[in-house]
Amino acid sequence: MRIAVVGASGMLGTAVVAAAVAAGHDVAATSRSGRIPDGVPTGYEAFAADVTSGEGLPEALRGADAVVFAANSNKRPADVLVGGLMRTEKIMSSSALLVLPSIVNCDKLRGAYYEAKSVQEEYLGHVEVPVIAPRITQFHEFLGAILSQAARWRLSLRGSFTVQPVAVAAAAESVLASTVAALDHGPLPQPDVAGPERLTATEMSRIWGAAHPGARVPLRVPGRMLSAAGPDAMCPSNDAAVIVGEAFSSWCRGSVGATQG
Ligand SMILES: NC(=O)c1ccc[n+]([C@@H]2O[C@H](COP(=O)([O-])OP(=O)(O)OC[C@H]3O[C@@H](n4cnc5c(N)ncnc54)[C@H](OP(=O)(O)O)[C@@H]3O)[C@@H](O)[C@H]2O)c1
Repeated sequence: MRIAVVGASGMLGTAVVAAAVAAGHDVAATSRSGRIPDGVPTGYEAFAADVTSGEGLPEALRGADAVVFAANSNKRPADVLVGGLMRTEKIMSSSALLVLPSIVNCDKLRGAYYEAKSVQEEYLGHVEVPVIAPRITQFHEFLGAILSQAARWRLSLRGSFTVQPVAVAAAAESVLASTVAALDHGPLPQPDVAGPERLTATEMSRIWGAAHPGARVPLRVPGRMLSAAGPDAMCPSNDAAVIVGEAFSSWCRGSVGATQG
């Protein structure tokens, strides 16, 4: 199968490319620069394309059986997530499967970014192509980067809202498995995808802090800043969720071991 990954240099895109190459698929890896970070096994075809202009997209998507749209931007969510998705969908073959990795409860979380994720999901109701949109919780790597940034300011985040993060590699394997299943058997509604451990923000921060010691001042993050839907909005909404990958705590220990070599 030929799988085109748009946003192939990002956290999820890189991991999807790696998983798809390892599984023996024919992979078109697309980013604006046409470069993919080191560490991804070779065996993919690289393309440079910009989803906001459409430049390079027809070549990148040509012949794809599935297009995984993993382009993302916090700074320009409307242009990249919404405009870029629409442009991509218009360019891809009408028989190809569109795969949109989404975020658990994105329609209940606050802010322009989550609003754009909700608009993406709503747009899927109007497309002509077959589509799946697995909702995933926040990646360990994403939350780790936030905690790391706070630590640079000598802050340790606190909060009673809960998270159930997932390792990006496990999320990518799950996205790939859903893609292959939908190509084989047709698109079906997708269960939420999450990691195995539910933690309060304070617990998560303490676990990360134990693996990255340093003097920090606690800073409370009010849950209402993130969510209008209560303290569990960043966790899967039902028991049917697919649980994959390692827990945040073991990822934290492992990522420190990996950094220290
Ligand atoms: N982060 C999380 O915790 C999380 C959790 C669940 C679901 N998701 C979803 O997973 C998807 C990927 O997220 P991510 O965190 O992996 O993103 P990311 O690391 O921020 O990567 C963004 C990707 O988008 C590409 N990109 C940005 N602007 C572009 C443009 N104009 N044209 C083409 N490509 C462009 C970037 O490539 P270049 O800059 O190299 O062009 C990069 O490859 C998103 O839909 C996100 O909502 C994320």
